[in-house]
Amino acid sequence: MPTTHPNVTVIDHPLVQHKLTIMRRRETSTASFRQLLREIAMLLCYEATRDLELELVDIETPIQAMQAPMLTGKKLVFASILRAGEGLLDGMLDLVPAARVAHVGLYRDPNTLAAVEYYFKAPDDMGNRRVIVLDPMLATANSAIAAIDRLKEAGATDMKFVCLLASPEGVENLSGHHPDVPIVSAAVDECLNDHGYIVPGLGDAGDRMFGTK
Ligand code: URA
Repeated sequence: MPTTHPNVTVIDHPLVQHKLTIMRRRETSTASFRQLLREIAMLLCYEATRDLELELVDIETPIQAMQAPMLTGKKLVFASILRAGEGLLDGMLDLVPAARVAHVGLYRDPNTLAAVEYYFKAPDDMGNRRVIVLDPMLATANSAIAAIDRLKEAGATDMKFVCLLASPEGVENLSGHHPDVPIVSAAVDECLNDHGYIVPGLGDAGDRMFGTK
C-alpha cells in the first residue's frame, strides 16, 4: 500500500482526518474549505517541523533562572507552488511567522506537456535553510518534481514536501525523482483518474479554495 511508502508520513490524527472529510464533501463552501485548509496546514506544519533543532538558552522566569529550549540551526522557508500552495501557506505562517517564503509558478505546456516556469522568487541563501515545499494535491507529481528541481537549482539541499492529499502514483513519481525529499500528507488516496485528478480526492483544490471553476 502507498501509505506505507517509506518516504511518506501520513498524519492520521483524528482532527486532521475529521477536517479532511469535511473538505472532501461536495457541498462544503469556499469559506469553510479555505478555513479548514488553514487549520490542517497548521497540523501538517507541526509534524513537518518535528525534527527542528533546539538548543538550551539561559532565561529568567518571574520565579528563577533556568535553561529552556529555543529553536536553533537552519531557518525555514515555505515554498508555495502557485496557485494552490497559497492555501497551505497561511496556516504554516500562523505557526512559524518568522519563516521566509518562496514562490514557484509553473504551467504545463499543452503541446510538450513540459512544466514551464512563469514565476520564481526565493531568498538567496536557500542552501542555509530548511525548505518546506507546499502544494495541497500531489497528483501526477510533475509540478512538484519541477518545483523541487528549480529549488535545488537555487541552492536548496534540505527539503520536505507537504500536501493535503497524495495519489500513489504521485508518491512513486516524486520519490523516484527526489528520494531525498520526505513527503508529509494527510492521506494517500486510491489512484489518479484519466484527467489527472486524485480519486476519491476532493476535486480541484485551487478552484475550491478560491471559488473558481
Ligand atoms: N489538482 C487538484 O486540485 N486536484 C486533483 O485531484 C489533482 C490535482
